[in-house]
Amino acid sequence: MLKIIKTEGNARRGEFVTPHGTVQTPAFMNVATCGAIKGAVSALDLKQIKCQVQLCNTYHLHLRPGDEKVKQMGGLHKFTRWDGPILTDSGGFQVFSLAKLRNIKEEGVYFNSHIDGRKIFMGPEESMRIQSNLGSTIAMAFDECVENPSPYDYTKKSVERTTRWLKRCIAEMNRLNSLEDTINREQMLFGINQGGIYNDLRINHMKEIADLDLPGYSIGGLAVGEPTEKMYEIIEAVEPYAPKDKPRYLMGVGTPVNILEGIARGIDIFDCVMPSRNARHGQLFTWEGVRNINNAKYEVDERPIDEHCDCPVCQNFSRAYIRHLLKSGEMLGMRLAVLHNLYFYNNLTAVIREQLDNGTFTEFYNKYRNILGVRI
Ligand code: GUN
Ligand code: ZN
Repeated sequence: MLKIIKTEGNARRGEFVTPHGTVQTPAFMNVATCGAIKGAVSALDLKQIKCQVQLCNTYHLHLRPGDEKVKQMGGLHKFTRWDGPILTDSGGFQVFSLAKLRNIKEEGVYFNSHIDGRKIFMGPEESMRIQSNLGSTIAMAFDECVENPSPYDYTKKSVERTTRWLKRCIAEMNRLNSLEDTINREQMLFGINQGGIYNDLRINHMKEIADLDLPGYSIGGLAVGEPTEKMYEIIEAVEPYAPKDKPRYLMGVGTPVNILEGIARGIDIFDCVMPSRNARHGQLFTWEGVRNINNAKYEVDERPIDEHCDCPVCQNFSRAYIRHLLKSGEMLGMRLAVLHNLYFYNNLTAVIREQLDNGTFTEFYNKYRNILGVRI
């Protein structure tokens, strides 16, 4: 259940209670694919960057170190030392984006590991068992994410199969949560809306999965090839059919502007590798736009990355120093850049929550929808 505190237009200010703590929404989830945020960021850093939720991946952790090993270590919370909420993605998306030679059948997906090429099978039951071993707070349904655009007929068949897979996920999770030695017997399952770029498929699918009364719903299959305007159109089309009293999660999205636009359209939760991935290449997000720190003009610039940012990095280090570290391939450069960018994303949602609390979100939206994407 999502407790709605305030709304402004379609935007929602809410609270999502989980057994590992309450998530204030809108919220950004920090991507720790293999159990760590890329850029040498540990769970000890997460509170400092205002992180509320950590996201880990079923596919990666199943391949290495193996979900049974993580279970032996007491589950992901103990293993990574993060005691807040953890969401695990189901492996559906990663199998489709990373694995080689995949073969999709009704029972699930046969694929070759991207690490050593060994043959692996993952279906809805396997994904639920792995996520149960990981002991995450929220498990995601095992789905197929088609690339955009895909033909209508294929997308329709794929969505129908994803619905059948969801029903198998629910049955398996109920079984696992009833077992004595399950790490987190209160694990929640979120459904995933698919349907490619076809509004009718999207809407029908959302209606069907809404009937299954899951604790949360996500929109998947976006930011996978379609124009940004199309993504916004799809969110607007399905939003009216997503349950009002449940969190809505837009998977794998996106830029600060995408997040602002998503919130304006009724999305509560986001995740994206962009802040950590782009930081490693010197692209830093600020309240004035996107700064490329590799630019020669920062060579002797003693100001912080963002003069309006109160993150630990901006309180201490100069643009010149961070630029130098990144250029020299020093790990510290990566780490500082990632910490700033993640703080920026988490803080962006915190500031938006404040605007919603104060009833000033619309003004904020009109001002920042242009500024946040500017290249500076
Ligand atoms: N991450 C980004 N998009 C998707 C999606 O469509 N499905 C899943 N499972 N994860 C995603
Ligand atoms: Zn900063």
